[in-house]
Amino acid sequence: MIGRLNHVAIAVPDLTAAARTYRDTLGAKVSEPQALPEHGVMVVFVELPNTKIELLEPLGTSSPIAKFLENNPSGGMHHVCYEVDDILAARDRLKAAGARVLGDGEPKIGAHGKPVLFLHPKDFCGTLVEIEQV
Ligand code: CO
Repeated sequence: MIGRLNHVAIAVPDLTAAARTYRDTLGAKVSEPQALPEHGVMVVFVELPNTKIELLEPLGTSSPIAKFLENNPSGGMHHVCYEVDDILAARDRLKAAGARVLGDGEPKIGAHGKPVLFLHPKDFCGTLVEIEQV
């Protein structure tokens, strides 16, 4: 059911420093920072030949990654995003298999303008999973 790895998201306490590390130390192609207030994050996209890395810094007081950074002050891998062809069919299949879909279970428009859902980390090897319809 899942297809390509769309991105890996890494929460960071300092987006400028993280972007510099990926650009200067790792030699990657790094975008300008973008504010995504509806998602409570500032994001930098790192383009790799086969996928993307998203560096996320909290934006605003109720950022969904604030708690994660409290527990992981130097940053850490926050989620992986897999592509699916049909997000509602994927959701229904996952729910039928007993997986927990976060929030109200209805897809939201994600950082790339496409519908996304998040799945409970305890059901997926301790990793928060995002699925995105492409
Ligand atoms: Co994501």
